[in-house]
Amino acid sequence: MQGIKISGIASYIPETVIENNDFTSFIETNDEWITTRTGIKTRHCAMNMPTWKMGSLAARKAIERSGISGDEIDLIICSTVTPDTLIPSTACLIQNELGLNGCQAFDINSACSGFVYAVDMAHKYISAGSARNVLVVSAESLSRVADYTDRSSCILFGDGSAAAVISPCEGKFSSVIGADGSGAGFLRASSVHPVTHPLFAVKGIEPETDENDHGQLYQDGKEVYKFAVATLPRIIGEVLEKAGLTADDIDSIVPHQANIRIIQTAASKLGLPMEKFFLNIEKYGNTSSASIPIALTEAVETGFIKRGDKIVLAGFGAGLTYGAICMEF
Ligand code: UT7
Repeated sequence: MQGIKISGIASYIPETVIENNDFTSFIETNDEWITTRTGIKTRHCAMNMPTWKMGSLAARKAIERSGISGDEIDLIICSTVTPDTLIPSTACLIQNELGLNGCQAFDINSACSGFVYAVDMAHKYISAGSARNVLVVSAESLSRVADYTDRSSCILFGDGSAAAVISPCEGKFSSVIGADGSGAGFLRASSVHPVTHPLFAVKGIEPETDENDHGQLYQDGKEVYKFAVATLPRIIGEVLEKAGLTADDIDSIVPHQANIRIIQTAASKLGLPMEKFFLNIEKYGNTSSASIPIALTEAVETGFIKRGDKIVLAGFGAGLTYGAICMEF
């Protein structure tokens, strides 16, 4: 079975830092609540920098670090829940910015599991001989969809991007990927809004309205929390079993950075020390699909993860989606 490696990885974090106390002028909250309930101290805001731009900045650096030339990249997969445009895809905008025109390029939306889904797809394209190298970009501007009247969700999210060049190698690769659409209503944001246009009048039909359409991001925090604390340890356990490894064989786990308490619960259910988990939620909050690759970039840059380490990446999010990967870095 073909393995894959991450030959280059990089992130882009927007400059503007939002402190917990920055929320206190417009919602009833405080630093103590946010810190103890979520583990988040700061998050960064793109201040409307386009998502494709953030993605391009990370992607350019990841390609440079990979040592692979642009013409050896046969596919760009962009994972985002906050595209600037419905069409064209963010992947095509990034492709054009980087001068990689000609290769395959498309977006996926698997919410916070998006990076794991995209790396799994990259593995499948490479294994099938359909791509030599794949550029995976995760870019998110959640500040553009967050509901700043909802204190239980707006404090969670941050903006940022990260990209990885995925290349073939000898090592083993295992994945557990899935979704449970029965939880689709627990975490949602609209991309197209109901409209009234002349054809309704021509046909004499009243337009349909969707009472679940909240426009900005809506989250049932408790339901998503329940899903997360059940799913994260389950998929980490399953991917290890698939890889024929035990938790002790693994050097590090990079989980989706949604809430420190979710990660602590997963660690305790798996009987794993927290030291195996890479954490940076305190600085960046939840950056949806960018969260795992931003954390992975930092883990590599700080020496927490080294070449040859056996790692697990595990995410969960809207959909409800989930995904875990076990590979050698
Ligand atoms: O990446 C996508 C995946 N998303 C997630 O993983 C999110 C999963 N859910 C969570 O992380 C948590 O459910 C939250 C952080 C969203 C909420 O934490 P919680 O411990 O479940 O709080 P809660 O909703 O049970 O609320 C407890 C109390 C409530 O007040 P009362 O009713 O007890 O008086 C809330 O109104 O905390 C209140 N509260 C706040 N207080 C101060 C909610 N948000 C805030 C806030 N500041 N920002």
